Amino acid sequence: MLTENEKKELQAALKKYPNRRSAVMDALRIVQNGRGGHIVKEDMLEIASILEMQPAEVNAAATFYTMYNVNKPVGKHHIQVCRNISCSLMGAEHIIKHLERTLDIKTGQTTPDKKFTLSTVECLGSCATAPMMQINDDYYENLTDQKVDEILKNLK
Ligand code: FES
Repeated sequence: MLTENEKKELQAALKKYPNRRSAVMDALRIVQNGRGGHIVKEDMLEIASILEMQPAEVNAAATFYTMYNVNKPVGKHHIQVCRNISCSLMGAEHIIKHLERTLDIKTGQTTPDKKFTLSTVECLGSCATAPMMQINDDYYENLTDQKVDEILKNLK
């Protein structure tokens, strides 16, 4: 169930679009941020009702984009490493292995303390600074093992 604040934020977002259905990505972002990083079916049903869409259309948007975590709770810091062509050529697989070893989890898993989730994603549009990863809303680029260690150390 959307909170009053989430409903207000969504109403503000709706003003940006001539067609309320166009606010679906904003709605998903608002709800995901309010749920600690993931979206459940009930949220999508409510979004569909507010935006006057079919639930399947909201589900299609939520499951198409890797930035939405549907029915999949993530840790406090969601690490998404790009493994597309530029990042792969520049060492993404090595960075992924380093993260798996350092966090002692496999890709797709969350640490037992729920602090980190490790995922891989397709191109995040930062190919010139490969290899790169996104942690929550921030990009980290030109990664090396040492840089990854520094980044993880600075996350609370
Ligand atoms: S290939 Fe990694 S950001 Fe584009």
